[in-house]
Parts: sequence; C-alpha cells; structure tokens
Amino acid sequence: MYQALYRKWRPLIFDEVIGQQHVTETLKNQVRNNRLSHAYLFIGSRGTGKTTCARILARAVNCEHPVDGNPCGTCPACRGILDGTIMDVVELDAASNNGVDNVRALREEAVFSPSAVKKRVYIIDEVHMLSTAAFNALLKILEEPPAHLMFILATTELQKVPATILSRCQRHSFRRIDAATLAGYLESIAEKEHFHLNHEAAELIARLADGGVRDALSLLDQCSASETIDVDAVYNTMGLAGNRRVAELLDLILKHETAGALRAFNGMWMDGKNPAVLLNELSGLLRDVLMLHVAPRGALDLLSGGYDTATLSAFSKRLTAEQLLSAA
Ligand SMILES: Nc1ncnc2c1ncn2[C@@H]1O[C@H](COP(=O)(O)OP(=O)(O)O)[C@@H](O)[C@H]1O
Ligand SMILES: [Mg+2]
Ligand SMILES: [Zn+2]
Repeated sequence: MYQALYRKWRPLIFDEVIGQQHVTETLKNQVRNNRLSHAYLFIGSRGTGKTTCARILARAVNCEHPVDGNPCGTCPACRGILDGTIMDVVELDAASNNGVDNVRALREEAVFSPSAVKKRVYIIDEVHMLSTAAFNALLKILEEPPAHLMFILATTELQKVPATILSRCQRHSFRRIDAATLAGYLESIAEKEHFHLNHEAAELIARLADGGVRDALSLLDQCSASETIDVDAVYNTMGLAGNRRVAELLDLILKHETAGALRAFNGMWMDGKNPAVLLNELSGLLRDVLMLHVAPRGALDLLSGGYDTATLSAFSKRLTAEQLLSAA
C-alpha cells in the first residue's frame, strides 16, 4: 500500500526535526539532565512538528539508553511504544474526546503506575477543543500530578487554552519553517525517493506550503507523478495555470504590447475570468515583485506563494520601486 510521504518521513529522533532547534535542543537537554517537566504545551501552526516532537519526547523519557537526549530507537521501551504494544503512552484527540467524562476516565486510569515503562505519558492533541468542565478536570491532575505521569498538550490556538492550564505547563512554540530550509528538506526527501525535483520547483512548493512541513510533503506527493518535477509541473499539478496567464499579461503590459495584452485579457474574459478578480491578482503579483525588490533575501518568506522566484525576479529587474508602488 502506498504510504504518504509525510507519514513515511515522520522524524523518529529530535535531530531529524527541521527548523525547531530552539525546542528540540531544550528538550534534549532536559532528557540528558533528567530535568523534565510533568506538563508541556506545544503551540504552533499545523504541520510544524508538534505531534512528532510529542511522540519523540514520550519515547526519550522512557528510553533505556537515550543517545544525547534522543530516544535510541532499539531498546524494548522505544520499540514497544513505537509499534503500539506498550500502552503507557496514550494519544488522545481532544477534538473527539472533549467531554468531562473523557478526562475523568483519564484521571482514574492515570493514578496507576505505568505497566511497562517509567512514565505514563498522555499526549492530548488539539487541547483547545476541551469543554470547560473537561479543562477543570484536567487542571485537578495538573495541580498534583503523580511522579509517574507526564502530559504533553498540543494546540494551534493558544488563546483558547485557559490561563490556569497555561500556568502549569512548560510552553514551547513551534515556528513556521522558512522557505529556504523547507526547500532544502524537500530536496533531501526527493533524493531519497529518487524524484527529479529541481531547485526552483522545491522553492515554489516550499512557498506554497506556507511554512508547514506536512503541507509541503503532501504537495510534493501530488507532483511526484511527473517525470521531472520542475516549476511547470508544480504550476500544472496545483492548478496554478491561471497565475501563469496573469504573469504573461503583466509581461505584455510592460512591453507596451497593447494588442497582445488585450488579446490575453480577452482570452481570460472569455474563459469567465472576472475583471475585478484579475485586477486583484495583478496587484498581488506586483506586491510580490515589490517585496522581492525591496528585500531580495528577507522577503522570500513573505511572498504569497503563487509564483516561482525566476518569474518574480525577472519582473523585479524590469521595474523600479516607484513604478511598483504606484502600480500595486
Ligand atoms: N519540523 C519538522 N521536521 C520534519 N518533518 C516535519 C516537521 N514538522 C512536520 N513534519 C512532517 O509533517 C508530518 C506531520 O507533522 P506533525 O508533527 O503531526 O505536525 P503538527 O504540528 O500538526 O502536530 C510529520 O509526519 C512529518 O513528516
Ligand atoms: Mg498534530
Ligand atoms: Zn530506547
């Protein structure tokens, strides 16, 4: 059976997690020095490594011979947790177990010592979905946690987690991965998968994924049917052909090819394109060109995602900042 890339390449140790060194180095240190907290809260946008790091941490704290703060992956604890035969590490999705009864049941079970490993670890995903009563029940355990217990809570929406819970957890923020790091990661995965992914295309996918590794790997998956994954393949697979036409229209306008521009506009009009939407897209493109113009390096992460770097930098060279400002 085909396994999605983002599942196949889920990191098994902290050192394989990209772009979150501020979190992974801290956690490795805590494992090394055995200075663990009994409750963690992982915050950040989706697909940035929260669940991945929660699972790694759950193994690292129970591993018999951690390697520099990473789980060894080969001891009975590591293997048992990974293949699901050790039941002391429990994952709960708060989105579907959000009632007070769920948390009470958890509390009854949590008082017992773990059966096979050192620590019973509860990973509660989407914790902001818990009901108020469930949060209160959880708070009771967090106030006086038995020594054998550890909680790792994860959420995309910090503002929905009550302050009383926040104050009892050690907080770690997961960042969006910058486009350059993400592109490099995609290239390394592509190499292992024997895909022919070129650099421009890797950058475009990274930008479209908006800093999320899961989204980036899913996009790469979708493009992988192409013999060579280049910018064209990404545009076609992602249904971004429209962006191509917008860039062509801008090109004709800049060349003062009025007849050609009108023809291009007419073509889009006949295909049902709303002129107001088209104007919006043109100004979005100009905004991206302007970003790249004023900050060639730093702006890479601020681009809207729909255009490849070559297209943008070609426009950037043809226009001054003044022209761009007045046009956009
Ligand atoms: N920082 C990261 N480094 C490497 N891969 C990652 C990272 N973040 C996410 N991934 C990839 O995306 C998938 C989903 O990540 P996950 O940790 O479940 O994200 P979330 O933050 O939504 O919990 C992983 O299986 C992995 O393939
Ligand atoms: Mg998750
Ligand atoms: Zn181990």
